[in-house]
Formats: sequence, structure tokens, C-alpha cells
Amino acid sequence: MNTPLLEIKHLQKRYPIYGPLGKLFPPKTHMKAVADVSLNLYEGETYGLVGESGCGKSTTGRSILGLVKPDSGEILYRGKDLTKLSDKEFRPLRRDLQMVFQDTLSSLNPRSRIGALLEEPLIVQGMGNPEERRQKVLEILKMVGLAEDHYFRYPHELSGGQVQRLGIARALIINPKLIVCDEPVSALDVSIQSQILNTLTTLQKEMNVALLFISHDIGVVRYISDRIGVMYLGTLVEESSTDELFANTLHPYTKALFSSIPDFKKKEKKVSLSGELPQYTDEFKGCVFHTRCPHACDRCREIAPVLTEVCPGHKVACHLINQ
Ligand SMILES: Nc1ncnc2c1ncn2[C@@H]1O[C@H](COP(=O)(O)OP(=O)(O)OP(=O)(O)O)[C@@H](O)[C@H]1O
Ligand SMILES: [Mg+2]
Repeated sequence: MNTPLLEIKHLQKRYPIYGPLGKLFPPKTHMKAVADVSLNLYEGETYGLVGESGCGKSTTGRSILGLVKPDSGEILYRGKDLTKLSDKEFRPLRRDLQMVFQDTLSSLNPRSRIGALLEEPLIVQGMGNPEERRQKVLEILKMVGLAEDHYFRYPHELSGGQVQRLGIARALIINPKLIVCDEPVSALDVSIQSQILNTLTTLQKEMNVALLFISHDIGVVRYISDRIGVMYLGTLVEESSTDELFANTLHPYTKALFSSIPDFKKKEKKVSLSGELPQYTDEFKGCVFHTRCPHACDRCREIAPVLTEVCPGHKVACHLINQ
């Protein structure tokens, strides 16, 4: 677990905010969807990226796959900076880097049968002859918990849970090294969620695939992750192994997030967040959490804290902790 499979360094993505006349005039300001995020992913591990809606989780995940072009920063995969590759240079790496979306159905051709949809990534990567591909498709159908007769069905003939299993199968069929799972079970009911998560983790271990698991649901992230990164307003505010993060929660935002878990440290005072999530524009000063933090001081309102390691593997960005 020493050399990272993927290194994200100082990733930044801003979007322009226009005035009432739209693009007729230059943007009024910019909002930082991702502001200076750095994190490492190791072979075969599950890294859970958690945070509330709009904090930049998907933007971070999509940048890895080249679906979002970051403004600055590096994403190093086996020494290659993915942000600098052309589409042609990126193509061979698609075999190693895959994605599962929350709404798999909308990313599939509705007129293709499941068999063809699963064979497609193998054809694109030039893998196997038709008979070998057919065998591989039948094998992966079984592995993800779908039946052989699904081979001839269309995507709209599957249930929501089955469609997500299909999404996982499409990602796994070419033996990738890393899968970005963006809220893959969020739209499903709790019992189906845990069945699919169990399938995913079993296959991940068998195939030694790293997962970047994106979710706003801390319960799901806790269940599946080896390490967790907590994001707030485009910023990574805390990162640690799952056990350490729950035993020794440091950042006030992480504490507030964990307060929503029914059995989380019953004796600890509940921290509830008040106020709206502010916009992280160019003018915003200080710690990203200061507008909602119950402990914010003058320093927090002026200077942004840096993510700093406070004990081995546990990093936090908070002036009150990194004195
Ligand atoms: N193409 C875009 N143009 C303008 N703003 C965008 C664009 N894509 C994302 N954003 C903004 O960037 C911020 C981060 O979005 P992102 O989708 O990464 O959040 P998220 O953490 O995945 O949220 P959710 O949990 O709701 O999926 C949001 O405020 C969003 O409105
Ligand atoms: Mg998202």
C-alpha cells in the first residue's frame, strides 16, 4: 500500500457566475466547485468521498475520467498526468479507469440488449473473439447477480437494482484497476443497497480493484470504505482510515455529519448545522466552514486552514486543531 495507484494533486475547478444579462458580459465572479483537493488512492482500496450535495464530489470523480476538465492540478496515474492527455492518449487508459453512475439507465443505449451492452467495452478494447466475449459476458452476468436470461433483455426491462448491477458489470468486465462509483446505490431502497454493496465489495476484493466511492450517505460510506475523505464546499476538510475517523472525529463539520447517524457516540453532544451552504466564490475568505461552524474565531474568518496530518494517516484542516 505504499505507492499510490492514483495521485490527485491540488485539483481545482471553477465555474463562471454571470450577471442577469448572462453571457453578454464577462462573468461577475467564479464559484469553486473543487478548490485545491489532493488525495491518493492505493491499489485495491476503497476510498469513500463523502459530503453534502454540491460540495464537489462528482466534479472530483469525473475529473479522473476526463469527463470534467480541471482548471489546474495534476491527476497522476502510473506516472502519467491524466489532465494533460488528449482523447486519443486517454483511450487505452479507459481499460484501467471505469465509472459507475447513479443513473446507469440514462447512460445506456435503450435499443441495445444487455448482452450487447456488456460486450461493447470488450469490443472497444479489442478483447477476445466473439465466442470468448460471449462467455465473458455470461460469466460477469452471474458474478454481479444477474441471470443468464437477462442476456437478451433490454435495459428498461430491468429493475432499478438490476440496472445498477448491469452498470457494475459493464465497469468490471474489462478488469479495470480503478472504478469511480458516483452514488451507485443512492436511488435504491436500503435492503437492495446492502445486497449490491456486498456484491461490489466481494468482486472488488476478488479482482483487486480500487474504488473511489462517492456518496452523501455517511452510513453507506462507513460500511464500504477503508479510508474516508470528508468534503465541504470543494475542499477536503478531513481524511483518515474509517475506524480512526469514527473513533477520533476532529473536524466540526465531520462531527455534524456524523451526528446524523442514529448510533454515533450517543453521549456526544449533537451538532446540527444551521444556515445555508454558502457559495465558494473568488471573494470568499477564511475557512470554508466558518459561516456554519459553532467554534469559528477571527482567524477562521480570515485565513483558510491547510489540510495537515495530526497523527499517522489522519489529516484535518482546522485552525482549532492545527494550533
Ligand atoms: N457544468 C457546470 N456548470 C456550472 N456549475 C457546475 C457545473 N457542474 C457542477 N457545478 C457546480 O459545482 C458544484 C459541485 O457540483 P458536484 O456535482 O461536483 O457536487 P456533488 O458533491 O457531486 O453534489 P451531489 O451530492 O448533489 O451530486 C455545485 O455547486 C454545482 O452547481
Ligand atoms: Mg454528485
